[in-house]
Amino acid sequence: MINKESVYKNVAIIGTGAMGRGIAQICAQAGSTVYLFDSKEGAALEASKKLTEQWEKLVQKSRVTSDQFDAYTSRLVVADKLADLKSVDLCIEAIVENLNVKKDLFTQLEAIVDSSCTLVTNTSSLSVTSIAACLKLPGRFAGYHFFNPVPLMKVVEVIAGLKSDPSICENLSAYAKQMGHTPVVAQDTPGFIVNHAGRGYITEALRIASESICDFATIDSVLKDQVGFKLGPFELMDLTALDVSHPVMESIYSQYYQEARYRPTYITAQRLAGGMVGKKVGEGFYKYDNGEKVSVPQPVAPKLDKFPPVWVSTRAARRASLLQMLKDFGVSIETAASPSNEALCLVAPLGLDVTTVAVLERLDPARTVGIDMLIPDESTKRRVIATNPVTRDDMREAAFALFSKDGKPVSVIRDSGGFITQRVIATIVNIASDMCQQGVCSPEDLNTAVTLGLGYPLGPLQLGDQLGPDNVLETLLNLQTVYGDQRYRPSPWLRRRGALGISLMQKEN
Ligand code: NAI
Repeated sequence: MINKESVYKNVAIIGTGAMGRGIAQICAQAGSTVYLFDSKEGAALEASKKLTEQWEKLVQKSRVTSDQFDAYTSRLVVADKLADLKSVDLCIEAIVENLNVKKDLFTQLEAIVDSSCTLVTNTSSLSVTSIAACLKLPGRFAGYHFFNPVPLMKVVEVIAGLKSDPSICENLSAYAKQMGHTPVVAQDTPGFIVNHAGRGYITEALRIASESICDFATIDSVLKDQVGFKLGPFELMDLTALDVSHPVMESIYSQYYQEARYRPTYITAQRLAGGMVGKKVGEGFYKYDNGEKVSVPQPVAPKLDKFPPVWVSTRAARRASLLQMLKDFGVSIETAASPSNEALCLVAPLGLDVTTVAVLERLDPARTVGIDMLIPDESTKRRVIATNPVTRDDMREAAFALFSKDGKPVSVIRDSGGFITQRVIATIVNIASDMCQQGVCSPEDLNTAVTLGLGYPLGPLQLGDQLGPDNVLETLLNLQTVYGDQRYRPSPWLRRRGALGISLMQKEN
């Protein structure tokens, strides 16, 4: 890496906070000479010292050799004034997130640098096109959106404004690769790729909480154990802190003119107002003791000696696998078209709630319980069962005990169209599908950005393909029926691919 010819030889980093420093580190490692500038006196010099300390630590851990250390540190230049950036060929701005301050900076810069110099912003929420509007040569301008901490988050969004020259985006993508990052190309739309695609996970989890279906900890456990998310949505919000994430939710919602798919809930607004913003203040959705999350006790499954016979709806999702599970549990299974008067009636809907299915199938709702079978049982570490408002206690307990028989954790929730996983996954896949329909990015870049930028176990479109676009479509259509909310209307991208039985990755010529 030391002698590698860089796409950009001289790079300016303007704003040397956490983001600017991180970007400076990987630019210097990629072989560029890096000019550090900050309007706060002494901040650029301080950043240079911190970077040197950072590389010293990496030498101690044998991740950087002493030759590399010398090369990297020799590439840092502290600039005292903007005029010192005259000869750079790339300026990366990572200053305060304020449109007018950014425009003011780029207006000044344009008068200093050469006309061939590329100008980019690391903004996470402002329109790239609106910043570029202050420039005489907007074609040289693009977004270059890194994630925190930059050296570890190995993805960067290259954002084309309306007037960005395509060759600028190609060069920025090549430079990203030189820095060891994966570039993904996005059009200049609210939230770009990662922050846009990440809407579903959080807002749908908040909706579930707002319907009092279960507590925050249950939603987190279910999504981690059933799907493989590393952090539950409420753990994630506690980590990011609501003073950061709530404004992002509101901003994307209003930038899309109150699009129901991005609608936030009062829950985060209220908690932000109340100061319960997350881990950094010791209290968010969870309480923290010395930085450690205080665990929330969960109900323990009862042990029963005797179970009622179980009748399974003929319309249950993955019915064969559900029947096999019951057989393995050694319970008596009813095979008649209708349940006997003693039976526990099991339904496994996609998108519908237990109440609706019990009424539609003319079952006794007092004995009806639902189980989420969207994800095959062998692929999940937790089962989720849902009651309805009149489910009898003994039937609830029987279902809880039955599905806990082999030791797999079970969460029992109140009635919910699409339980927890179905509605969260369907929302994520739907938003991702609509991003492709809008042309925000390619399906491939969407999956890459989300797995690298959000750490999801699979890209949203891959997840949709794995579960079956037709299943996701059915879930959404039923969710729309249960809730009557435009939020769940399927994107044309998903609707067409689900109807045609093809992959969500399939582009249209
Ligand atoms: P920060 O507040 O830690 O650092 C900003 C730095 O810019 C400060 O050192 C400040 O003195 C300097 N500055 C402010 N106005 C300036 C000006 N007119 N000229 C030169 N320097 C100026 O901010 P942070 O977190 O490093 O973020 C910087 C940018 O990166 C923002 O646009 C933010 O939206 C974006 N971003 C931040 C992420 C994060 O997780 N913190 C993630 C992705 C993007």
